[in-house]
Amino acid sequence: MMMPEWWNEAVIYHIYPRSFQDSNRDGIGDLNGITSRLGYLQWLGIDAVWISPVYPSPMADFGYDVTDHCDIDPMFGSLEDMDHLLEEAHKRRIKVILDFVPNHTSNRHPWFLESRSGRKNPKRDWYYWKDPGPDGGPPNNWLSRFDGNSAWAWDENTGQYYLHTFLEEQPDLNWRNPEVREAMLNVLRFWFDRGVDGFRVDVSYRVMKDPDFRDNPQNPNWTPGMDPSFRVIEKHTKNTPDIHRFNRWIRQTADEYDNRVLIGEMNLSIEELSKHYGTATQPEFHLPFNFRLIFSEWDAANVKNLVDQFEEHVPNHGWPNWVLSNHDQPRFATRAGAGQARNGHLFLLTARGTPTIYYGDELGMESVEIPHNRVRDPWELLSPGLGLGRDPVRTPMQWSRKPNAGFSDPDVTPWLPLEKEYEKRNTEILKKDSSSILRFIKRVIEIRRRSDALTHGGCSTHEAPDGVLLYTREHKPSGERVMACINITGEKKNVPLKGLVDEVSELTLLLSTEMDDPAAVDTEREILVLRANEGILLTF
Ligand code: GLC
Ligand code: CA
Repeated sequence: MMMPEWWNEAVIYHIYPRSFQDSNRDGIGDLNGITSRLGYLQWLGIDAVWISPVYPSPMADFGYDVTDHCDIDPMFGSLEDMDHLLEEAHKRRIKVILDFVPNHTSNRHPWFLESRSGRKNPKRDWYYWKDPGPDGGPPNNWLSRFDGNSAWAWDENTGQYYLHTFLEEQPDLNWRNPEVREAMLNVLRFWFDRGVDGFRVDVSYRVMKDPDFRDNPQNPNWTPGMDPSFRVIEKHTKNTPDIHRFNRWIRQTADEYDNRVLIGEMNLSIEELSKHYGTATQPEFHLPFNFRLIFSEWDAANVKNLVDQFEEHVPNHGWPNWVLSNHDQPRFATRAGAGQARNGHLFLLTARGTPTIYYGDELGMESVEIPHNRVRDPWELLSPGLGLGRDPVRTPMQWSRKPNAGFSDPDVTPWLPLEKEYEKRNTEILKKDSSSILRFIKRVIEIRRRSDALTHGGCSTHEAPDGVLLYTREHKPSGERVMACINITGEKKNVPLKGLVDEVSELTLLLSTEMDDPAAVDTEREILVLRANEGILLTF
């Protein structure tokens, strides 16, 4: 690998801005709230924050429906507040990554208002407009992700349909139009000029659709009760062959500046996502987001397989990345079980690649059941009862035992209810408890930061007893070696060390998920004795 860039070594922290810290008593998090909590992130050892969209928006999809890409929604603050956040973050050596939403705008964006005003409008072609199909209905069978109905909405006024992959309020932009490209690439430049360090690119792999608008194939495996938009296989609506053109457009724009990072949102296999690194001469994403830990089982054999796949497919100029949770999917502690929350983070922070922590996961926060009358997410409202709603993972951050957990003033009603456990599970309490998950994660980050093997060494997995994940990281120039041994079961496990290390007596324990009461290295029998759910790091 070439000289590491900051984002190779960084620990990224994902903030859902509505839910991090409210500074002005409206029950909704905001930029000044984030700025006021930077000290906490610095204490935790975070190097970069990624903030979900804060641009002006009618909030049909809570900010993923943008009406002005170059401003801040008053609900979140102002451009000055963003400048202040950038300045304060940079003072603390924390980079700031924003969300770029290229696939669609709000239907109230001035561009769309113009586009829908008449067929002859110069911006007509900025979006996808089509005549009805032969049967008078939508032009093809593409489905909206949020309700499984047609992705085409009828516009009475101009007698054509427009495409919306998500809500009707989110019409898709036509990136094949050079004017759209120019306008949207200028959005990146606007923020880069202000000092933003990079972008997470929303559903990047959906931006280029089949130029011939062919029907998607039916999905033979779909059954009622499944996500209704999965009735078709999205062959012509995502990851189409010319998506790499889009990737290169934005990469070339980022490369006009020094030290910026692009992270593409895509839900693909490791083999497929690896193609989004591009080539050494025509690079694309620095980090095509790897969602495999989110969408597959937290199970030792599976995770070993994922690591091996990454080692096989990541190109030489590429760099892996891992993430456990985000604002769209159930939280890790809920999916994997609370007993595995530390192990998940131990892996996240010691695997080869850039880790992204989702806000609140460092406290062991779980998905929160939302009472019917408090549901806010359009996905839940449009497809109720299928478990697709995202409110449960967007509840307010828990800072203290005070009412509203310090997220907002005690007498304010936050936009979503709090997790019930907040009186015990909050940063104030967990910071003081030396055996807490929060202190554990902070400790792993400290060890990682000091270790060449963990930040940029190579990685190999090893055979281990069923349910145990075992891998080593090695930094050849310094000879530093670290071993991670993670018990992803609720039973005690003996892990043989013969053949793995030259001298078992030379193993030194760096830390255990059990903190003060770590696993035993049995030098006589040359085994490690792991407790149920225990994960450890050793150096040798
Ligand atoms: C991405 C975002 C999600 C949003 C959707 C539409 O998947 O992560 O929150 O609703 O795109 O923009
Ligand atoms: Ca607020």
